[in-house]
Amino acid sequence: FEPVKIAPSILSADFMNMERDIAMIEEGGAGYVHVDVMDGHFVPNLTLGVPFVKQLKEVAEIPLDVHLMIANPLVQIPWFLEAGSDIVTVHLEALDAVAGEVEQAIGMIRDAGAKAAISIKPDTPTEALAPYIPLLDMVLVMSVYPGFSGQSYIEGSDARVAEVAAMAAAAGTRPLIEVDGGMGVKTAGSVAACGADVLVAGNAVFGALDPRAAIAEIARIADE
Ligand code: DX5
Ligand code: ZN
Repeated sequence: FEPVKIAPSILSADFMNMERDIAMIEEGGAGYVHVDVMDGHFVPNLTLGVPFVKQLKEVAEIPLDVHLMIANPLVQIPWFLEAGSDIVTVHLEALDAVAGEVEQAIGMIRDAGAKAAISIKPDTPTEALAPYIPLLDMVLVMSVYPGFSGQSYIEGSDARVAEVAAMAAAAGTRPLIEVDGGMGVKTAGSVAACGADVLVAGNAVFGALDPRAAIAEIARIADE
């Protein structure tokens, strides 16, 4: 039995006090620092980039889980690896599968010694992941449309987690399954029961009176 890990999304942290907030989530038992990179093209919002990740790496003790919501990710993957990303997640929808870009992205990430993950938006069928499951360290199932923190969990995302878990079992592999969007005490239980290993939480952690306690509480509910 592996306890579920919580990956607080720093998009909801205080950017002017980031070092303090990272120390706080580490104290609270966070498993990863979830870093939401948005480029204003793949998603409407614009957040942070390579120089920021490089500075995060200097202060974070736990691994950086870098979620790239960007167009043309093949161009930027090497930069994010160089900046110290421990896990790099790329969106399937941002890659040209027919041209072999998915395997290329995964190869770049793993060759650098980082962990490779592919994410799918809520409308992308889970079957689209099938060819890549044996190549992946992690799959990220989005439970909101990427772009903003603080959105509501899309019902039925737990069933998609179960589909990915079943596909992995059928392929004889076990990539981690991460869920991102609207995670909190009300939504953690069902996705964890369906096979999620890592839960991203932005608002539910940094919007809480006590973010440390929120991390522990979400993890406790996920493990019930
Ligand atoms: C959404 C991002 C998420 C988001 C999570 O596009 O990928 O990581 O910041 O925030 P909450 O937990 O508030 O939904
Ligand atoms: Zn994210």
